Amino acid sequence: MRSDQLRLLLASKFVHGLRKGRVGDVRSAVNRNRRLIPGGVPSDNYLSYRPPSASVIPRRALSSSSSSPPPSMVFNTSRLINKTVLITGASAGIGAATAILFAKAGSNVVILARRAEALKAVEDAAKAAHKESGVQGGGKVASIQLDVSDKAQVASLLDKIPADLRSIDILVNNAGFVYGVERVGQISDSDIESMFATNVFGLIAMTQLLVKDMKARNAGHIINLGSVAGREPYVGGSIYCATKHAVRAFTGSLMRELVDTPIRVSEIQPGMVETEFSVVRFRGDKSAADKVYEGLTPLNAEDIAEEIVWAASRPPHVNLAEVFVLPTNQASPTISYRGGKM
Ligand SMILES: NC(=O)c1ccc[n+]([C@@H]2O[C@H](COP(=O)([O-])OP(=O)(O)OC[C@H]3O[C@@H](n4cnc5c(N)ncnc54)[C@H](OP(=O)(O)O)[C@@H]3O)[C@@H](O)[C@H]2O)c1
Repeated sequence: MRSDQLRLLLASKFVHGLRKGRVGDVRSAVNRNRRLIPGGVPSDNYLSYRPPSASVIPRRALSSSSSSPPPSMVFNTSRLINKTVLITGASAGIGAATAILFAKAGSNVVILARRAEALKAVEDAAKAAHKESGVQGGGKVASIQLDVSDKAQVASLLDKIPADLRSIDILVNNAGFVYGVERVGQISDSDIESMFATNVFGLIAMTQLLVKDMKARNAGHIINLGSVAGREPYVGGSIYCATKHAVRAFTGSLMRELVDTPIRVSEIQPGMVETEFSVVRFRGDKSAADKVYEGLTPLNAEDIAEEIVWAASRPPHVNLAEVFVLPTNQASPTISYRGGKM
C-alpha cells in the first residue's frame, strides 16, 4: 500500500471513528497500518481531533440563528451562520479542522484538496458536526478535488462548485507545505518549484479568482495562512520561508488595496502546529517529524481553526490583520523551551 493510499485509509477510518465516538479504534487502525508503510509512517495528527461529544468549538459558537448572543455567551459567532466559506487544503490538518469548525458554527463550506477520499471523510465529519451543533442554517458541504498549483484546475473551479455555494463570503487560503531541510545549493529544483507553485502561486491564483466577485458584491473576507516562517527566516528553511514571506507581502498589499471597501484581509501566522506538516517535510519519516515537537506541547489543528473562525466572526468593522500564534514554549522558529509537555 502506498503512503498516500494509507493516509486516505486512515483519514476515512478516523472520521468514521469520530462519528461513532471510537477514537480508540482509530488508534488501533493507525497502529495496525504502521507496519504497512513503506518508507515512513503517517502523522498521528488525526488522533488530535476531539470526538463530537467533546466540543471542538467554544460554546460561544453554538448559538442559535439570533444575531444577539444568549446572555451566557461572551463572544458571538452567529455572524457566520449561512455564510459560505471556501477552504483550500482541507483534507487534513488545519484546513480539515477549520472546515469542521465553520460547519459547526452554521456556515456552508466548500472544501478543496488533491486527495478526494480524505476530503470526502472531512465532508462527512463537517456535516456531522453541523448536525450535532443544532445550529439552524448553513451546514451545506461540498468537496472538490483540486490542486491549487494547477492553473487550469483553478480557472475551471467555479463551474464545479454547486450553484447555491458559488458566492463565496470567506476564502481561507490554507493549502501549503514544506519539503526538506536542505541548505541553499543542495535544494532540488522540483522542491523549489512545487513549494512556490502551491504556497505562493496557488494562493495568488485562488485569490485572483475569488476577489473579483467579492469586489463586485462589496463584501468578503480573505484569510491567508502565513507562518512564523514568514516573519523570521531560519537555517534549512530558505524556500519555505521565502514562500511565507511572499504570502505576507501579498496579503499586506491586498489589505492596503482593499482599504476603501468592506472586504477584510487577514493573515494567520502559526508557530509549531502538530499536523501532517512535519511528516511531509521529512518525506514520511514520522520519527524525524516527532522530534520537532519533543519536550514541548505544540499547537494543534483545532487551535488554529479557532483563530481562523474567530477572525471571521468579528464584527464587520474589525479586521484581524495579523494573528501571530505560538505554542507557549516557542518564541521564534529557533527559540523554544523543551522542559516537558504541558
Ligand atoms: N503545521 C505547522 O507547523 C504550520 C505552521 C505554520 C503555518 N502552517 C501552514 O498551515 C497550512 C496548513 O498546514 P497543515 O499544518 O495543516 O499541514 P497538513 O496537515 O500537511 O495539511 C496540508 C493540506 O494542504 C493540502 N495541499 C497541499 N498541497 C496542495 C495543493 N497543491 N493543492 C491543494 N491542496 C494541497 C493537503 O491536502 P492534499 O495532500 O490532499 O492535497 C492538506 O490538506 C499550510 O499553509 C502551512 O504552511 C503550518
